[in-house]
Parts: sequence; structure tokens; C-alpha cells
Amino acid sequence: MGAQTIRLLGVEKHFARAGKRTHALTDINLTIDAGEFVAVVGPSGCGKSTLLRLVAGLMPASAGTVHYDDELVSEPRKNTGIVFQKANLVQWRNAIDNVLLQIDLRSLDVSEYRARAESLLSSLGLSDFLDRYPHELSGGMQQRASIARALVHRPDVLLMDEPFGALDALTREQVRVDLEALWLRDRMTVMFITHSIDEAVLLADRVVVMSARPGRIDRVLKVDLPRPRALGARKAPAFIELVDTITQEFLARGVLDDHRTQRLLG
Ligand SMILES: Nc1ncnc2c1ncn2[C@@H]1O[C@H](COP(=O)(O)OP(=O)(O)OP(=O)(O)O)[C@@H](O)[C@H]1O
Ligand SMILES: [Mg+2]
Repeated sequence: MGAQTIRLLGVEKHFARAGKRTHALTDINLTIDAGEFVAVVGPSGCGKSTLLRLVAGLMPASAGTVHYDDELVSEPRKNTGIVFQKANLVQWRNAIDNVLLQIDLRSLDVSEYRARAESLLSSLGLSDFLDRYPHELSGGMQQRASIARALVHRPDVLLMDEPFGALDALTREQVRVDLEALWLRDRMTVMFITHSIDEAVLLADRVVVMSARPGRIDRVLKVDLPRPRALGARKAPAFIELVDTITQEFLARGVLDDHRTQRLLG
């Protein structure tokens, strides 16, 4: 199956617990085109993970609908790959068998996917670590294995929730470049959630900027930077301009505060 278009129409999400109501998301209307890479940035608590879970079919919306092409999402789909902030590898399986778990769970033929699992792990710099168990891998390596696990079954949609949050800055830069390369090859539809403005601009075709609770879409910015956006892309004027536009937006909304230093220093 080819990449899918994701559509969110009038999506709202409320949570209610012990008489307290949280309005997490309001008036979310967004289309992510088939094969498009969309990043979502926004302040902590604005509903990004909630949005991802709704798109993944892991929880229902309070109002509005989520669609993949013409199909209404009401439960998790087989053809989605998800990467969460924590790698969550199974401790008693080595790296390649953790990746192949995805195949086992779908009752597919593991032997048909072994070569792809190896090649994904190699593209992510883990060719020498295929038979290592999670406790023998660094945190960054575990996260790279979890990215391979999300891609091994050739998903048409890839959903990532702060997937690089636990990585050190250098690894993060490398894995970003690797992820772009994998996406350029397979062209699945991607929703990528991050706190990092730089990362959003470096990876995405469009950046969705969210405002604080109840989370809503503030702006959607198109990123016209040539691909692949290797390490040098940070120097491009279009990169600097877009990062500045998003930073100004967060300053205007009080998400960032540039004057705190002066106040602290008195
Ligand atoms: N299962 C839940 N039950 C009740 N409230 C929830 C639940 N999940 C999320 N919330 C609330 O919804 C709001 C949005 O949470 P969410 O995790 O989506 O934010 P986020 O943007 O991903 O934040 P962060 O950047 O810190 O990960 C928060 O106020 C949170 O407390
Ligand atoms: Mg979150």
C-alpha cells in the first residue's frame, strides 16, 4: 500500500478525572499529505502526545474525526510505525530480534524481513550490534533500534513522539540525518513531534506550531530547504529565518521569555 493522507477534522479532546476536566486540544484541522513529513512543535503540555495518540488510533477524540485516506480511524492500524520517547526494547531479545518483534506481532514471516531489519539497523549505525541485548547498548543505540523496529514492516505512516529526546546532541544530529535519508528512500507519511525548533525545521516539509492549553494550531509554516538537509543546512538563510519566525511566535505567546536573565540579574 502507498503512503496515506492523514486528515484531522474539527478534533477536540477533553480528559475528565475525579471531577476535573482538562481541555487538551481544540479545533484541530490538519491534513498531512501522503508522503509528507510534518513536524509539530509546541510548549510542554499543549497536547502534542495526545494528538499523536489520536492519530495512532490509541484513544478516541471527544469530537471531530481522524481519517487515513477515506478510512475513519477508530483503533490502531497495522500499517503504522510508532516511536515513543523511550525505546522500550524487550530485555530478553537482542537488537535484531527486537526489531523483528514487530513482524512476529503481525504474524508475518520473519525470514522475509530479516534482511530488511539488518539493513535498517546498519543504516542507523548499528551493524556491529545486531546480536547485542538492550543492556549492552547505549541509550542512543536503543533508541536507534526502536526506530528500526518502527520501520521494519514498511509502514505507510510513521508517528514519532519526541523520538530523539533521550539522545545526546551529537547522536541526535546523526540520527536526524539518518532518519531523513530513510524517509527520502521510503517516503512514508510522517508526523514528528518535538520540542526542538531546529529539529522541526531541519526535518519537515511543514512545521505545525501549537499554542498552549487548550492546544490549538497556531501556524503552519512551509519549509523550502533543499534535501537532503545534511549538517550544513543550519547555515542556510531560510533555516535561520524560519527558526527565528517560530522563536518570535513563542516569545509573543509567552512560551519563551527573553528578559528573564535581566530580571534575574536584577
Ligand atoms: N490520559 C490522560 N488523562 C488525563 N489528562 C491527560 C491524559 N493525557 C494527557 N492529559 C493532559 O492533557 C494535556 C496535554 O498532555 P500531552 O501529554 O498531550 O502534552 P504534550 O504537549 O505532549 O506535553 P510534553 O511536551 O510535556 O510531552 C496535559 O494537561 C495533560 O495533563
Ligand atoms: Mg508529550
